Amino acid sequence: MAGDNAAARILGTGFYVPPRVVTNDDLAQMFDTSDEWIQQRSGIQERRFSGPEDTPAAMGEKAARLAIANAGLAVEDIDMIIAATLSPDHDFPGSACFIQARLGLPGTAALDIRNQCTGLLYSLTVADALIRAGQHTNILVIGTEVHSTGIDLSTEGRDVAVLFGDGAAALVLGPTDNPEVGLLGHCLHADGRGARDLWIPAPGSSYFPHRAPKSMYEDKSVFPQMNGRAVFKHAVTKLPKVMAEVLEKTGYRLEDVDILVPHQANLRINEAVAKHMGIPPEKVVHNIMKYGNTTAASIGIAMHEAREDGRIQPGSLVLLAAFGSGFTWAASLVRF
Ligand code: UT7
Repeated sequence: MAGDNAAARILGTGFYVPPRVVTNDDLAQMFDTSDEWIQQRSGIQERRFSGPEDTPAAMGEKAARLAIANAGLAVEDIDMIIAATLSPDHDFPGSACFIQARLGLPGTAALDIRNQCTGLLYSLTVADALIRAGQHTNILVIGTEVHSTGIDLSTEGRDVAVLFGDGAAALVLGPTDNPEVGLLGHCLHADGRGARDLWIPAPGSSYFPHRAPKSMYEDKSVFPQMNGRAVFKHAVTKLPKVMAEVLEKTGYRLEDVDILVPHQANLRINEAVAKHMGIPPEKVVHNIMKYGNTTAASIGIAMHEAREDGRIQPGSLVLLAAFGSGFTWAASLVRF
């Protein structure tokens, strides 16, 4: 077990996306939309849809094994698993338990975090605190989502259906004695007044007498519902604030940041935020074109790709920022 107050750092990253590519033209075969509308509004060109074998836990396991190998560790070195997802394999237990069983780690702590698009940053914050407290040593943080089986692939659901894709990302966090590297600080926020601006109403235990009302398919309350304009406004106002807040908290300036890895919800949102803050385009990671919005996985996938293509190097100062359903918004600053 780590000593008290050892800082935490990212030791390894990995991701997995299912092989089936679904282009905008493929969606246009299913309902009334177009490649032009989707690209113009969101920047998305294609996304991945999983098959029956790629459940959230199965994809989470694949991403986890890659991240553990990337960290130079063995699976047995992991002493806690945190899984962030809004699309768990089952209502309960959480997907972290299913991933734990798949990895063959009986007895290892397993925790699910339900914070949608900010799930990965909420998870990083919890993992960081547990490592600093000496409670756990090597924590696996996973974001994994299967959206494709839960969206309304009809013209009525097109505003949401075109945005989301399936995938998983994993990070391995461990202690470090080097105060120059690691997770430098986090800011987490939420405003539940916006909870119904992006949500799936049913099934749920607020329904009586049955949590899965028969009407949920007819009235489509089983599908995500979004007030797109409200979410857009929330994102472009809160993201700059939370990014500035985490920089102030950690004593860095925006100019010190080597690269921004934002949640991949909409290329237009991220471009607008970067422009507003004066961050040059080459310092912002975008991969929404290929994967759509993979929610809890998106920052992890983008971070891994930026490490692979050399934009994140040892020593890079990386700003992570996310917003989404809840509403929730968050930022973390990381030195690799
Ligand atoms: O992690 C958080 C995830 N969510 C977000 O980040 C969403 C944030 N919001 C947005 O990105 C934008 O609000 C959207 C891209 C979702 C929508 O863009 P918009 O400019 O706000 O469009 P709108 O909803 O006002 O719809 C404009 C038109 C409507 O038609 P009419 O009423 O003008 O005739 C819609 O019916 O576009 C229509 N429309 C579509 N047309 C083709 C809506 N969805 C589609 C579609 N294809 N997929």
